Amino acid sequence: MEGRQAVVVGAGQPESDLLGNGRAIATFLAREGAEVCCVDRDMARAEATAEIIRQAGGTAHVITADVGNADDCVRLIEESAAAMGGIDTLVNNVAINHVDADPLSLDIDGWQLMMDINLRSQWLTSRTVVPFMRKSGGGAITNISTIGSKTLGGRMFAYAISKAGVNALTHFFAGTFAGDNIRCNTVLPAWVLTPHSIEGLTRHGWVPSREELERTGSNNVPMHRMGSAEDVANAVLFLSSNESNFITGLEVPVDGGALQMIGRYTRPQPVAETAA
Ligand SMILES: NC(=O)c1ccc[n+]([C@@H]2O[C@H](COP(=O)([O-])OP(=O)(O)OC[C@H]3O[C@@H](n4cnc5c(N)ncnc54)[C@H](O)[C@@H]3O)[C@@H](O)[C@H]2O)c1
Repeated sequence: MEGRQAVVVGAGQPESDLLGNGRAIATFLAREGAEVCCVDRDMARAEATAEIIRQAGGTAHVITADVGNADDCVRLIEESAAAMGGIDTLVNNVAINHVDADPLSLDIDGWQLMMDINLRSQWLTSRTVVPFMRKSGGGAITNISTIGSKTLGGRMFAYAISKAGVNALTHFFAGTFAGDNIRCNTVLPAWVLTPHSIEGLTRHGWVPSREELERTGSNNVPMHRMGSAEDVANAVLFLSSNESNFITGLEVPVDGGALQMIGRYTRPQPVAETAA
């Protein structure tokens, strides 16, 4: 990532002993040499991520924007390009689900808010970045989705649909801008143990504690653990870097095999070695 100019949208997190996806992504890109614009609606959170990058000897900028606001989606890209002198890497990490519900009880405002923040924002930042990437001779856009975009989302109805939209948006951008050397991929994490997942699920009362989340969150995962922000950031780093130069339009599950469980009721049993 040496010499690269990256924008990470949703680069902050609540203070915690755990790493969130956005901070992990921003610091991993910077660790490999990228200059990074840390974008968040909460300036202190973005500043904290930028400071970690600077402390490690990297270069980081802070931009405050609410991606639920269409004008902000355009502005954050323009300000990032002005701060760094260009952009060749974009990571769309922001999503919300705290207003979600099942299909019968979700209200229309909640639906709209999730579509705007989770899906429309990724379209707007991506289309605004295209001219800058063309100027740079190409680039990489990586959108954060979820394996919930492929499975029954339970009470996360609009979240799952907005993320299915993110997958489709990714294919569209990958195909449309491949000739400009602009790649677009999406990462589909399973449950990741992050400050947000713990806070969100316990606030809803869906799980009573972090310990319970770790237990149930790994239940249907063949690798029998939850994901970490580091797992997600490593995938984003690969998809942003030159190591994946010929890879575009991919949906990359980061899920310990969880998607392989569709249609199964129990984790696969270990298979004993047999004599050849
Ligand atoms: N945590 C999980 O279990 C999990 C699982 C699958 C997918 N994901 C995806 O990972 C991403 C987030 O990861 P995380 O949960 O680690 O959170 P995170 O730690 O990366 O925090 C995201 C940041 O987004 C910011 N943000 C929220 N709304 C915003 C807005 N309207 N405008 C600008 N910034 C805003 C928050 O202030 C926060 O700092 C989302 O796309 C989510 O769908 C998470």
